[in-house]
Amino acid sequence: MKPRRALITGGASGFGLSTAKALLAQGAQVAIADIDEEKLHAAAEELNNDQILPLRLDVTSPASVQQTVTACDKRFGGLDALVNSAGVIHFGPLEETTEADWDRVIDIDLKGVFLCCQAAAPLLRQSGQRGRIVNIGSDVSKIGCALIASYCAAKFGVVGLTKALAGELAPDGVTVNCVCPIGVSTTGMGQDVLAYKHQTTGANNEAILDATAADIPLGRNPTQGDIVNAILFFLAEESSFLTGVALDVDGGLLSTSTLPGFGDGQ
Ligand SMILES: NC(=O)c1ccc[n+]([C@@H]2O[C@H](COP(=O)([O-])OP(=O)(O)OC[C@H]3O[C@@H](n4cnc5c(N)ncnc54)[C@H](O)[C@@H]3O)[C@@H](O)[C@H]2O)c1
Repeated sequence: MKPRRALITGGASGFGLSTAKALLAQGAQVAIADIDEEKLHAAAEELNNDQILPLRLDVTSPASVQQTVTACDKRFGGLDALVNSAGVIHFGPLEETTEADWDRVIDIDLKGVFLCCQAAAPLLRQSGQRGRIVNIGSDVSKIGCALIASYCAAKFGVVGLTKALAGELAPDGVTVNCVCPIGVSTTGMGQDVLAYKHQTTGANNEAILDATAADIPLGRNPTQGDIVNAILFFLAEESSFLTGVALDVDGGLLSTSTLPGFGDGQ
């Protein structure tokens, strides 16, 4: 039982677009919805598939979200899966983060997930045992991180929202799970993170990526495929008894440690 009809927010880029490609290859009908119309157009051209539905969406606008869900219903005759991948990040010290910076991140990364889940819920409930929501959290959904307070707060919120909605939608068989990746440098946001690290440390991209790989117990940086595989797992029939899960896709980063002062323990 593959999801037949999926809506992916942030679907014009990064994890959203990679997930759309994988679902299309499984024979699904996929709406890619994004605020960036240029990227959306380019993505639709690249996918070049009549099962794709590109939609302009602003996840912070209840009207835009409802229009998007209605367009999916009209085209697909229902909806089996929602992947909430739209997101932005803001970097900066607490004292330099403005209220507008804070609101933008919380509105897109947390309120946007709420609005999309709320609007899609009636169609997903109708889909029943096939119904799936997959939210994208982060490693900073579970551990604090300096200089990205608004992003960290939003992503902690996404895990809480995931668990709350898992309980609400369970009676209809709909599962709600969250994938929590560490940084993947090839996406739009991954490039933003690299640029910020370069700006603050002066190190080049290769040195930055070598340093992050060295910190990861499995010894390498993740690929987009590592993250998409976890998203596909939560969309698949095989995960139908899992709900309310926030899965770390982090090469062991948050799960392992050595004794303090013990180096890498080798
Ligand atoms: N790449 C990483 O390192 C990383 C790590 C952990 C979590 N994430 C999360 O993964 C998700 C996908 O990010 P990505 O890395 O693929 O980055 P990305 O920039 O490639 O994709 C994000 C997409 O969201 C869209 N978007 C932004 N605001 C929107 C809005 N208001 N309405 C609709 N769409 C909007 C952007 O236009 C973009 O296409 C995000 O939630 C991000 O927080 C990314």
